[in-house]
Amino acid sequence: MKTSGGSDAAKRRAGESAAEAVDDGDVVGLGTGSTAAHAIRRLGNRIDSGLHVRGVPTSFASRELAADRGIPLLDLDEAVGPDAPGIDVAIDGADQIAVGAAGRVATGAEGGGDPTAAPLIKGGGAAHAREKLVDAAADRFLVVADPSKEAPVLDRSVPVEVLPAGRSAVAEAVRAAGGEPTLRRAERKDGPVVTDNGNLVLDCAFGEIADPEALAATLSATPGVVEHGLFVGLADEIHVGTETGVRVTE
Ligand code: 5RP
Repeated sequence: MKTSGGSDAAKRRAGESAAEAVDDGDVVGLGTGSTAAHAIRRLGNRIDSGLHVRGVPTSFASRELAADRGIPLLDLDEAVGPDAPGIDVAIDGADQIAVGAAGRVATGAEGGGDPTAAPLIKGGGAAHAREKLVDAAADRFLVVADPSKEAPVLDRSVPVEVLPAGRSAVAEAVRAAGGEPTLRRAERKDGPVVTDNGNLVLDCAFGEIADPEALAATLSATPGVVEHGLFVGLADEIHVGTETGVRVTE
């Protein structure tokens, strides 16, 4: 499973902190990436100690890891619907979290941090389409990250999953919206990254993203876009692992 940025100890603290917030009987969305993998491993340990949960994986990689750790699995279609149990909580990583110029998540009406005010960029593992489905369907979405993911403003490239036939048309639309698209290539193979859904990924550089909600709406409205990596207004808790502990904003 891909590892990016930050120390593994910080990622582990974040992932394990979120896994401890899961209750007996929960259906849990299982995110993708090296930080979410720590949460999946910790849930596996808790199952060994008697916890009963079921997981909804967001990628082939998270499915494999969860199965290896003995976590019973449901497909999203089995978890969500009129007679389905629903998803109680999702735990997932992020490539960037906008925490505001003050270096902390914006303050909500009741004075505490307001995680829904912290937009995210996801999709470093090209799993953001299924991640968004699962994270948005969950009653609570817990973001897990190390401090290298925090930034005053989102400025990383936004991963955009596109239908293969729509690659050039979407790239043109991204340029018209002020972005610079780059087709994501596989690190060790001579070809493009192909998602679990059989699509391609354009990493789209927009510089500083002053209005993530507006850009998200523009990308969502572009024909050929399957899903983009801007997650706006979805986070319910943010667990940031540090070298010594965990900061939780809820
Ligand atoms: C995958 C993702 C990951 O959650 C994101 O890339 C963070 O990964 P990591 O925890 O390895 O830094 O969005 O599509």
